[in-house]
Amino acid sequence: MSIEQLLPRYSNLDRGGMLKRVLTYFADLEDAAQRYKDTRLEREIPDPLHGVIVTGMGGSFIGALFLQDLLYDSWRTPILALREITLPAFADKRHLLVAVSYSGNTEETIRVLVEARRRGIPVVAVTSGGLMAELAEKLSYQLVRLPSGLAPRAAFPYMVTALAAILDALDPSLRLVDSIKRSSLNLAQCGSDMQRHALELADWMLNNYGANRLPIIYAYRPYLSAGYRFKTQINENAKLHAFFSEIPESNHNEIMGWESPSNLFTVVIRAEEPPHMLHRMEFLLDLWSKRGIPYREVKPLGGSRLEKLLSLFFTLDLTSVLLALKRDVDPTPVETISQLKKYLDSRINIRSSLDL
Ligand code: F6R
Repeated sequence: MSIEQLLPRYSNLDRGGMLKRVLTYFADLEDAAQRYKDTRLEREIPDPLHGVIVTGMGGSFIGALFLQDLLYDSWRTPILALREITLPAFADKRHLLVAVSYSGNTEETIRVLVEARRRGIPVVAVTSGGLMAELAEKLSYQLVRLPSGLAPRAAFPYMVTALAAILDALDPSLRLVDSIKRSSLNLAQCGSDMQRHALELADWMLNNYGANRLPIIYAYRPYLSAGYRFKTQINENAKLHAFFSEIPESNHNEIMGWESPSNLFTVVIRAEEPPHMLHRMEFLLDLWSKRGIPYREVKPLGGSRLEKLLSLFFTLDLTSVLLALKRDVDPTPVETISQLKKYLDSRINIRSSLDL
């Protein structure tokens, strides 16, 4: 059964329409490419530019990691993907700060933005509104507007394309927005293969969760963003624990844990693998087989790195939504995150605590 055929079955449960939203991924990317393709930087940019600091939390963070993966070995300007409440000491006016907050009200991101102002760092704000949009107006920062009415994590196609457009404006030779548009058109043709893959993976994972096992998602550069996104999407959509780990670093510490009995299972993202990575993977897969650890390999579709990353994001986002729906969980609300934000609001009035 195709996922489109499943839509009516889940229409009562999926009140926020997350499944439909994920199914419009490639259309959203094309729409975003159209929306942001003419983005220009309106303020003076440091020359030479020492780095781009992209700051944001949760669903507003992942776009930075995606671009870091995409450009890891091809763009010489450092990209720092920041998810902190303070700026590192090295951040100064030779950098550009891109502050991303879908709601515009995330304390960590607002505080970093305000600190950037104090240090004279040029800022571009990416948001759908909130306090960040107000600050951008007040402080005359460039604002790249996101469409409103989405869950932040569901706005990924818009956020990543807006960020790509900012990088294109810095370095037109990148042509990222064009590539996003082209890749989305190509990948839209393989939608049913990715959907089938997501359905299978969701069923297999549910069996393991049902047996009281928890997953570790493994990935390596340049696919770390896909693995980390999968972990966070399982957390937020399916309301389940999932852990993320990086290869090869985990081979130097975490691997020891397999010597003891555990209630874990693993999902490993595998794409183009140079021999040094292939041999590491062979070893791990063999180890898990011998220890009776259930594992699954996830492979991308597409030719370019961008296509591979986007196909992984789509397939794994969809898997996380299916994990929710198949457990009778509405994927959209993130009640505990909202409670925390309300609690923090009651303790810290971010507006009045800003020294502007
Ligand atoms: C909710 C979500 C969260 C938020 C995070 C930061 O869909 O994905 O991870 O993204 O709490 O909030 P924003 O994105 O509004 O800055």
